[in-house]
Amino acid sequence: MDESAILAGIPLPVLLVAPDYAVTRTNPASLEMFGHDPVGQNAVSLLRQAPVLAALDGAMRDRQPGHARFLLSGLSGEVSYEMRAHPMDGGGAVVSFEDRSHREESELMRRDFIANISHELRTPLTGLIGFIETLRGPAKDDAAAQERFLAIMADEAQRMSRMVSDLLSLSRVEVDERVRPRAEVGVEAVLRSVLATLEGKLQEANVGVETEGLTLAAPIRGDSDQLIQLFINLIENAIKYGGPEKTIHVSLSLIERDPTLRQPAVRVDIRDEGPGIDPIHIPRLTERFYRIDDDRSRAKGGTGLGLAIVKHIVNRHRGRLKITSDQGVGSVFSVIFPQG
Ligand SMILES: Nc1ncnc2c1ncn2[C@@H]1O[C@H](COP(=O)(O)OP(=O)(O)OP(=O)(O)O)[C@@H](O)[C@H]1O
Ligand SMILES: [Mg+2]
Repeated sequence: MDESAILAGIPLPVLLVAPDYAVTRTNPASLEMFGHDPVGQNAVSLLRQAPVLAALDGAMRDRQPGHARFLLSGLSGEVSYEMRAHPMDGGGAVVSFEDRSHREESELMRRDFIANISHELRTPLTGLIGFIETLRGPAKDDAAAQERFLAIMADEAQRMSRMVSDLLSLSRVEVDERVRPRAEVGVEAVLRSVLATLEGKLQEANVGVETEGLTLAAPIRGDSDQLIQLFINLIENAIKYGGPEKTIHVSLSLIERDPTLRQPAVRVDIRDEGPGIDPIHIPRLTERFYRIDDDRSRAKGGTGLGLAIVKHIVNRHRGRLKITSDQGVGSVFSVIFPQG
């Protein structure tokens, strides 16, 4: 039997270890993992970590298969492997490694995410429970206080409901992120409809809008509902964080060749005249639940999901999001999509 062809056909790193613990065979995946060919090397000095050696001994001496976690530091940090040792008929053992870092990482992200959601929901819920107690007790006969508390409770309940719908739309966008939309959508039409939708909000907040380029024809391959959601999120942020009596500048332009996308592009800039964003926050703004000023954003009903949704929608459209900000002058959120 051609052992080396069999080993080469296995995508996992594999070592064959002789009864004297010498490594007798390897495969291309194990060369890549160790960065050199360990043939001839002693397996004990190669692997070193106690739990791994115990699993190896179990297979070699007691003829029992075993497994252990093996950590290898490489150029891009520490990689965690599941090492398995299996006894061979004529003595010695087969040792294989499976990269577990991705699984561990996504498990960690999932736990973080759940912790965040629980925390975000607990705050308004604790408030609601407190108000209910007050309404039943001390404020039982105080009509004015009741009115006030009910208004706060309505706000909090609304916030929770918005958060749940944001989470749902985030998960929907994530699910189809790999499928690029097919329909042809005019970005100019999307922007006009978004501005019409937000007219009431703009007036209420006493914020003006100046537009540029909305008469251009700017077709892209897109999902118009998602594009509407994207621009609503960005313009709502500009309203919330830009401040009253200011102007939001929405400009649409066609670019002959975007240096990053390396093709003709459609670009939309949403510029506000707000206080701007400290550069240290900019790379993190699209993380879920990331808010610069927790209390201020929360007071404005924010959950920190808006820009995470924006980023996923932009990714799905194979575009890019660029955030620049001049403190004291304002911020610009630019979305650039491939044309066509
Ligand atoms: N135009 C802007 N100017 C200044 N800061 C901004 C601007 N847009 C977003 N931010 C900051 O980025 C944070 C994240 O924005 P994001 O839209 O993700 O969440 P949010 O507005 O707090 O809540 P949500 O959009 O979920 O209601 C905001 O909390 C705010 O601190
Ligand atoms: Mg927002």
